[in-house]
Amino acid sequence: MDLHATIILLLIFLITRVSFGQRQFQIDWSNNVFLKDGQPFQYVSGSFHYFRVPVEYWSDRMIKMRSAGLNAIQTYIEWRSHEPSIGVYNFEDNLNLFGFIEMAQKHDLLVILRPGPYICAERDMGGLPSWLLTEDPSMALRSNDSRYLNHVNRWFNYLLPRLNPYLYKNGGPVIMMQVENEYGSYFACDFSYTSYLRDLMANLTNNDVVLFTTDGNALSYLKCGLINGTFGTIDFGPGTDVAQSFSYLRSRQPNGPLVNSEYYTGWLDHWAEPHSVTSDELVIKTLETMLSMNVSINM
Ligand SMILES: *[C@@H]1O[C@H](CO)[C@@H](O)[C@H](O)[C@H]1NC(C)=O
Ligand SMILES: *[C@@H]1O[C@H](CO)[C@@H](O)[C@H](O)[C@H]1NC(C)=O
Ligand SMILES: *[C@@H]1O[C@H](CO)[C@@H](O)[C@H](O)[C@H]1NC(C)=O
Ligand SMILES: *[C@@H]1O[C@H](CO)[C@@H](O)[C@H](O)[C@H]1NC(C)=O
Repeated sequence: MDLHATIILLLIFLITRVSFGQRQFQIDWSNNVFLKDGQPFQYVSGSFHYFRVPVEYWSDRMIKMRSAGLNAIQTYIEWRSHEPSIGVYNFEDNLNLFGFIEMAQKHDLLVILRPGPYICAERDMGGLPSWLLTEDPSMALRSNDSRYLNHVNRWFNYLLPRLNPYLYKNGGPVIMMQVENEYGSYFACDFSYTSYLRDLMANLTNNDVVLFTTDGNALSYLKCGLINGTFGTIDFGPGTDVAQSFSYLRSRQPNGPLVNSEYYTGWLDHWAEPHSVTSDELVIKTLETMLSMNVSINM
């Protein structure tokens, strides 16, 4: 083969690799969009917490979600269920997170993970293990207290490397991972904790996944919720002023795609209180407003 032919073949190889071969999910900060394999991308996803739903129903729910037009699912990962006692891990049956992610991919759904470690999710102690309290009641949770961080460190060192094969870049469906959860609603406002978590997660995922935060739609929440170097998103429900909500985010994060990470199509019930219902007309109206602004949405 002469030199010209070699160079041409090399060029063809490089061009096809860049345009077809590379799986990438990233943020285009100058055009305010996500890029999936280099193309502008918007997601409309639904929350599906595998640990609340018997495994026998997973596939049924995913088929319905995909048929409804969703292109992604979002789930928390509940620490307390997966590590029932210190150093003992459970990923069986309804806790088969890896099977859940594989099943989502089979159903053509991307996956957004929220590993916490605090997840709220209307779970006891936000999904933190109760043994944190019995071990040392003075431990300051969700802060840079080293007694707490040592446990977070062990758990994330167990969990995150096992998720790496499922990241979008590595051939899987996982496009984003959330750091903490609505941390701006917590009193501690400990930036040394949130920046530690950011670095821990970035390190353990080899910087191969988009890290993000989620907070309420007010400046007071964004103040302690946003983390430098982490993509900020907000949450709010039907009937909310969409433009106003995102203007708060824009004032702290001038660029990037707009995301509502928790669009409340329903609300939780407390025992003995009337069943919560949400107006479907209002759900549709606010959804349409967000879609017209190219907002990516998780319901
Ligand atoms: C933890 O946070 C406290 C209060 O913000 C600070 O004084 C301390 O230096 C921090 N410790 C570490 C290890 O970052
Ligand atoms: C992340 O990796 C950097 C570079 O290796 C290291 O300096 C830092 O301590 C790590 N941080 C965490 C929280 O693991
Ligand atoms: C975030 O970054 C800005 C600009 O680099 C810096 O001024 C600010 O102190 C940082 N905030 C925290 C909490 O680290
Ligand atoms: C939404 O995205 C489309 C396609 O990229 C673009 O033409 C339009 O200007 C965008 N609309 C807004 C409000 O950003």
